Amino acid sequence: MIIGSKVFFFENLTSTNTYLSDMMLNNDLPEGTIVRTNYQTAGRGQKGNKWDSQDGMNLLISILLYPTMINPVDQFLISMALSLGICDFLKTYTHDYSIKWPNDIYISNDKIAGILIENSIMGDKITSTIAGIGLNINQRTFQSSVPNPVSLNMITGRDFDLLVCFNKLISELDKRYKQLLSENYSQTKEDYISKLYLKDKWHSYRDKNGVFRGCIRSVSDHGNLQIENSKGRIVDYGFKDISFMS
Ligand code: BTN
Repeated sequence: MIIGSKVFFFENLTSTNTYLSDMMLNNDLPEGTIVRTNYQTAGRGQKGNKWDSQDGMNLLISILLYPTMINPVDQFLISMALSLGICDFLKTYTHDYSIKWPNDIYISNDKIAGILIENSIMGDKITSTIAGIGLNINQRTFQSSVPNPVSLNMITGRDFDLLVCFNKLISELDKRYKQLLSENYSQTKEDYISKLYLKDKWHSYRDKNGVFRGCIRSVSDHGNLQIENSKGRIVDYGFKDISFMS
């Protein structure tokens, strides 16, 4: 097992990503080291957002990886593999999961998990990756500022043992990471694309020119979202260039 080779648990922390990145400065940590906590006082999300999670209710983890086999231009593969690992975990409980590009995990139209990936790159190598995952397990009420949250409890109507969920999650993440190590990139890409939220469905999006109707067709090798517009043209979008309308 690579992911989970070493696990550090703390009752509370500022942020598992921040803690792990500080820890790396003074320690030689093996690949797969995980920092887990029950509560973050400064949990971080994408685009500078906060990640809120009630004490002891959800999984809050950061994983250290050394994906030196992946060229920085292909770094989106890491996102794909981790998103798929979370989906594989969810499979036991529901079939209604999907990946909202780039790496939000959805159940129907609600978000159950988010991933914050922080890569360190030197030349043509990714020297380390800190992958933070917040996965909602037992929480039932969320702050009103969180757009559309959902948890495993809300979809199944029951409570879960966090440690059991943690062990199952890291085992699924490990399988997907090993798929990357075996350089079976085409399988990872195919699985990721097949699970995209709103794939092949017409929906409203906003780009620099305004709101338009479009249909997600795929994701490029470099992780850009490919949307067909009403004229039948497929346009590639980077993370900051497109938003989904609700
Ligand atoms: C998102 O905005 O969707 C990404 C959320 C990532 C949250 C997790 S919780 C564990 C780890 N530590 C953090 O501070 N953030 C990530």
